[in-house]
Amino acid sequence: MHLMFHLSDISKSYGPLFAVAHTTLDIPAGRTTALIGPSGCGKSTLLRLMNGLIAPDTGSVTFDGEAVTAANASSLRRRMGYVIQQGGLFPHMTARQNISVMARHTGWTAADTESRLQVLADLTRFPLDALARYPAELSGGQRQRVSLMRALMLDPDALLLDEPLGALDPMVRFDLQTELADIFKTLGKTVVLVTHDLFEAAHFASDIVLLRDGAVEQRASMDVLLSAPASTFVKKFVGAQRGLNGARGLNGEPGL
Ligand SMILES: Nc1ncnc2c1ncn2[C@@H]1O[C@H](COP(=O)(O)OP(=O)(O)O)[C@@H](O)[C@H]1O
Ligand SMILES: [Mg+2]
Repeated sequence: MHLMFHLSDISKSYGPLFAVAHTTLDIPAGRTTALIGPSGCGKSTLLRLMNGLIAPDTGSVTFDGEAVTAANASSLRRRMGYVIQQGGLFPHMTARQNISVMARHTGWTAADTESRLQVLADLTRFPLDALARYPAELSGGQRQRVSLMRALMLDPDALLLDEPLGALDPMVRFDLQTELADIFKTLGKTVVLVTHDLFEAAHFASDIVLLRDGAVEQRASMDVLLSAPASTFVKKFVGAQRGLNGARGLNGEPGL
């Protein structure tokens, strides 16, 4: 199996607190892996360790067979699209400028940039005339599409998405979940998707990594998390999610 990421015994602490604690994790290429867990369990920190935005205190990260170091992290990051929690669009730039910022920085021609923009707008079903708008002039769902286009601009090998649908209202969120899953299937890229919602995780991935206090508690499909929880913590986490989702079916259809 081709591994896109290999995390070996990585830890990261802030003061006395471990955000990530001795975690070993393999992420296979060409499919979607979901990272899930309660707020503060280290999901965002783990993504930042994967793309070298922060360095681990202990352990190592490899990306496509290459060790991620301070020296090569910024060049490797061009092969990893990243959507930060809350999207991270520049408010003073139009959608078009936001999406093409890295292409400009890397020296693409205006013609190449524009043709890539058209491909991405088509892929994400984003209206071309809205590319001239600023983030504040877009809907929440459109902003997410812009964030995704920006992450895809350089045609990366991997996509790291930190709660990409977290800020959306339930109806928009449900539609985008379906569309995004189709897009990931079409692209065949390695996707690591962070969410705190088990049903959303299951919508995107059969491979779900449940984190607790910066460490992997259980890695399994949703069916297995439900039928064979590895610990009381998993049982409680799954139970709480079921409670939250009491009005919807197991496939995550929105309730009334
Ligand atoms: N830059 C930072 N400085 C201090 N503490 C941090 C920093 N980043 C994360 N943490 C702490 O590390 C823990 C994990 O955070 P985070 O990775 O953001 O969790 P999650 O994304 O799962 O909500 C939390 O306790 C958080 O407060
Ligand atoms: Mg987070």
